[in-house]
Amino acid sequence: MTIIVTGGAGFIGANFIFYMLREHPEDRIVCVDKLTYAGNLSTLKEVMGKPNFRFVKLDICDREGVYRLFEEEKPDVVVNFAAESHVDRSIEDPSVFLQTNIIGTGVLMDACRKYGIERYHQVSTDEVYGDLPLDRPDLFFTEETPLHTSSPYSSSKAGADLLVMAYHRTFGLPVTISRCSNNYGPYQFPEKLIPLMIANCLNDRPLPVYGRGLNVRDWLYVEDHCKATDLIIRRGRVGEVYNIGGHNEMRNIDIVRLICRALGKPERLITYVTDRKGHDMRYAIDPAKIHAELGWLPETRFAEGIQRTIDWYLTHRDWWEEIVSGEYQHYYERMYGDR
Ligand code: NAD
Ligand code: DAU
Repeated sequence: MTIIVTGGAGFIGANFIFYMLREHPEDRIVCVDKLTYAGNLSTLKEVMGKPNFRFVKLDICDREGVYRLFEEEKPDVVVNFAAESHVDRSIEDPSVFLQTNIIGTGVLMDACRKYGIERYHQVSTDEVYGDLPLDRPDLFFTEETPLHTSSPYSSSKAGADLLVMAYHRTFGLPVTISRCSNNYGPYQFPEKLIPLMIANCLNDRPLPVYGRGLNVRDWLYVEDHCKATDLIIRRGRVGEVYNIGGHNEMRNIDIVRLICRALGKPERLITYVTDRKGHDMRYAIDPAKIHAELGWLPETRFAEGIQRTIDWYLTHRDWWEEIVSGEYQHYYERMYGDR
């Protein structure tokens, strides 16, 4: 199979590419990425030379470029990870979220219709369901939970989901959607909670906790998300949504304290800052459907996954220090400038 993976120079997309090249060496992976501030080509350097891997710098909103690529590659499957993914940035400037997350998704699906496809898979998020109250631990997001978004980010992701389902019903496009909870693991951009706190701890900088740190997220190790995505594209039912999450709810403040402890740093680094506007209180996924239909269960326990993640950031300081300094943005020019 030839699989186009969009957003593959980002956190989850890159981990997915590593997973797929390892588990399915017979498949060809074509990574499409615009290399926004969140895309880091150096993440993919180990796989760049593989004969069954190709990197293409391309904006998914560039219709002509996308059509040209489909003509060349004739993909069997498209997995769309490409997105603006950070909630705080969507509060600062929603417009690029609408452009990439909705218009870009439409362009990819038009290409799928025009050239034919076995499967289009949309990587969505649990944030499309809005949030749950802290005092109702019995409530979880199922695939039937109504869409009820809070931020421009989650609204743009929900808009894309609706468009994907419309292309299935109207044009018969063979689609699936997955909605996963918060991921953590190697190569996550240090603007997100866990890598930001690790990087700040290591630099003895303040640890900015929003509000009182009581918001709850349902954390999943990134490789478990990759495995679930692989199962869905191979065995998931067309036209279906699958929630992905591991019943691992934690308060932000407890995560930050845990990171301090693991790195031997004092909790006095913790600084409570003004809350995020519209801040969702609690996310919690019910993964019963993907478990029943595809046999998926998370394999990495949080205690093990967070230690592995912390160790990774300790041993890959170059990767995140280049990001923090902005140096990584010159990597593409260094690699490709003269070619
Ligand atoms: P990320 O921000 O780390 O990576 C996004 C990637 O998309 C980057 O490499 C970026 O360069 C690329 N990109 C952005 N705009 C593009 C465009 N117009 N054309 C081509 N490439 C473009 O994001 P992530 O955390 O890896 O998330 C990947 C996907 O998973 C997103 O769709 C996100 O909504 C979803 N998701 C993320 C999480 C999470 O916890 N991080 C959880 C559930 C779902
Ligand atoms: O649930 C899935 C979503 O998880 C994905 O769709 C998003 O792409 C991904 O970014 C993530 O969204 P969150 O907003 O939950 O992640 P973030 O890491 O930004 O924040 C996690 C929690 O930590 C949230 O309650 C806000 C809080 N926070 C975050 C940062 C960056 C802080 O308290 N301080 C911080 O500095």
